[in-house]
Amino acid sequence: MTGYSDDLRLAHMLADSADDLTMRRFRAVDLRVDTKPDLTPVSDADRAVEEAIRGTLRRARPRDAVLGEEMGRTSGHGARCWVIDPIDGTKNYVRGVPVWATLIALIEHGRVVVGVVSAPALARRWWAARDGGAWTGRSLTKAARCRVSSVASLQDASFSYSSLGGWEERGRLSDFVELSRSVWRTRAYGDFWSHAMVAEGAVDISAEPELSAWDMAALTVIIEEAGGVWSDLSGNPDIDGGSLVCGNPQLHGEVLKLLGDERARASLRAVPPLRPGISGAVRPPRG
Ligand code: IPD
Ligand code: CA
Ligand code: CA
Repeated sequence: MTGYSDDLRLAHMLADSADDLTMRRFRAVDLRVDTKPDLTPVSDADRAVEEAIRGTLRRARPRDAVLGEEMGRTSGHGARCWVIDPIDGTKNYVRGVPVWATLIALIEHGRVVVGVVSAPALARRWWAARDGGAWTGRSLTKAARCRVSSVASLQDASFSYSSLGGWEERGRLSDFVELSRSVWRTRAYGDFWSHAMVAEGAVDISAEPELSAWDMAALTVIIEEAGGVWSDLSGNPDIDGGSLVCGNPQLHGEVLKLLGDERARASLRAVPPLRPGISGAVRPPRG
């Protein structure tokens, strides 16, 4: 039980109704796909899911603000905001690839406190509420705890990402290739899946160069509650930072050293090395 149990239960209900909608339209022959002004696709299912979630939140949490990818921001009367990506992985969804999910998060006083990632075509769901641990399973009562891996060196690590394109556009392809060559294994599982697999310890590190708040909010609390670390490419844990790097505590900083912005690299260089015999990211107190 956490202070957010009711909100987590509501987030699961929102995910259940989203799953009904998305699964009914997945691979439908009459699925309608439009192109948004940013030239990315959006289907009738993306819009229907966001509309349905907003409808339920209007009744169940009338004071809360809502931010959704397809319908923007609706203001509220307090310090709480639900952040919704109705379908993360729309390009997969419209092509019949089962790697897509509905992402639902609740932010309170600027911190993500609840996150649910529901991927019904994979028969998978991941969730967390602040201080309540990270979980995966079919429902709140049928769940297994998520924990990040304990792989401690890059040469033993499995690294997942989405595609090369974003790194190339940011002029970061050579850093990306260097990281890829430093790890044991790479696989582009893509979208939410890379980060969800870090939370459950199946993958050790994940990174994405270009994301919005709704792409990452739900994932960040799941990563944290699974014992992992996340930040943007500058090393800040900021869901408006535009990028995401996730890992277990031993590896997150190692990834930033290769892939992070100059600011992140400089601050990592400024931190004194660990004393011999001490492992992990927790450093001994100074002095
Ligand atoms: C996309 C995914 C993908 C990321 C893109 C996003 P969408 O979200 O999160 O991993 O690389 O930048 O736009 O559009 O499928 O919800
Ligand atoms: Ca997304
Ligand atoms: Ca989306």
